[in-house]
Amino acid sequence: ASILVIHGPNLNLLGDREPDVYGRTSLADIDARLQEQAREAGHHVLSLQSNSESELIERVHDARHEGVDFIVINPAAFTHTSVALRDALAATAIPFIEVHLSNVHARESFRHHSYFSDLAQGVICGLGPDGYEFALQAALRQLKQ
Ligand code: DQA
Repeated sequence: ASILVIHGPNLNLLGDREPDVYGRTSLADIDARLQEQAREAGHHVLSLQSNSESELIERVHDARHEGVDFIVINPAAFTHTSVALRDALAATAIPFIEVHLSNVHARESFRHHSYFSDLAQGVICGLGPDGYEFALQAALRQLKQ
């Protein structure tokens, strides 16, 4: 199966960006771990990071025609702002899990609302980079069923 991992704006800075909040692991390390885990299970991970809302939306549109079976997405700041990215996920109807490195509920109140959570199969937050791995495990388990 094919799993698409999408990282939203500013996540390219992981590792140097506010390390007290987001940790010291780089995005390349996260993606490499996910790729490795998927490969061991005989599956395939595609990853994209973008700072551009339109690029993220178009990536989700393309996923429909590429036979992507599952999406793991950290929409980053677009979590709290983007009806358009939400609508793109609703339109593709590919199941997805929403991931946040930080515990958004323990932070500023503007981070408490997500435009994605009610459409997501599940939401993982506050567990750092492990959250992506747990999301991938959940996706792989479902794809096996
Ligand atoms: C984030 C949380 C968001 O509120 C923030 O804008 C991010 C990252 C996280 O992974 O903790 O950029 O999605």
